[in-house]
Amino acid sequence: MQLLDGKKVSEEIKNEIAIEVQALLDQGQKVPHLAAVLVGSNGASLTYVGSKVKTCQKIGFKSTLIELPETITESELLQKIDELNTDDEIDGFIVQLPLPKHINEQTVLMAIDPDKDVDGFHPTNFGRMALELEAFIPATPFGILQLLHRNAIETKGKHVVVIGRSNIVGRPMSILMSQKGMAGNATVTLANSYTKNLNELCQEADIIVTALGVPEFLKADMVKDGVVIVDVGITRVPDATNPKGYVIKGDVDFDNVKNKASWITPVPGGVGPMTIAMLMKNTLFARQRRSK
Ligand code: GUN
Repeated sequence: MQLLDGKKVSEEIKNEIAIEVQALLDQGQKVPHLAAVLVGSNGASLTYVGSKVKTCQKIGFKSTLIELPETITESELLQKIDELNTDDEIDGFIVQLPLPKHINEQTVLMAIDPDKDVDGFHPTNFGRMALELEAFIPATPFGILQLLHRNAIETKGKHVVVIGRSNIVGRPMSILMSQKGMAGNATVTLANSYTKNLNELCQEADIIVTALGVPEFLKADMVKDGVVIVDVGITRVPDATNPKGYVIKGDVDFDNVKNKASWITPVPGGVGPMTIAMLMKNTLFARQRRSK
């Protein structure tokens, strides 16, 4: 078994981006500026947004964190988004999900200017991505493509089973891997909770991407020898013995499955750091497009 080391590959990508930032500075141009909107105080969201801001600082981007109270109304949030859309100093921004229940997520995502939508969640970017046009690609699937590509893992002609059809991971992942581009040309099955014979499907898969949020769901008896496994799950499971009060679990029972896999992502240190690196890559794209 070989580790699909997202920490290592994400460091490579961040180093490449930092070099491009230096080139922008040398040309007397502005550095990329990412803003992140965080509504409320969801613990996991706080951690993720914190990592995004910290990464900006490390690679030489500007960043702005906009923290808004849980009680903010949808129209107040839409107004904030409008300000970011028109703020010339901001190259790209994200609204961290999930949002409180009284706010319609889709309405909010659709209010983001597609040219600043570095998460790639706006229908314009999603549609452009699906048509293989230039677009901001959602960071998690984009990161998984990079992780496979940079480890020279063949996807052409392979059977990929993606478990979980979310708009931000599973569905875009299935589209991208079925396309002609990098880490593409695969035959993809997109499974959901109604899928029959999931075990048999997984047993036939050359590559499995799990994005369902059920800790340790995937076991050794569900996979074939030599399978490549990408675990997108990051669930906080309460654990009184841990100082944080929880441990992070992936969707894959790692110890159980590892001896059958040819490649497998660890959790943490697999997909997570890749997501952040690709958000930075998208923000760099946004800056470069705006300076043309
Ligand atoms: N919540 C979980 N993943 C993501 C992500 O990639 N972007 C945003 N904005 N929210 C998330």
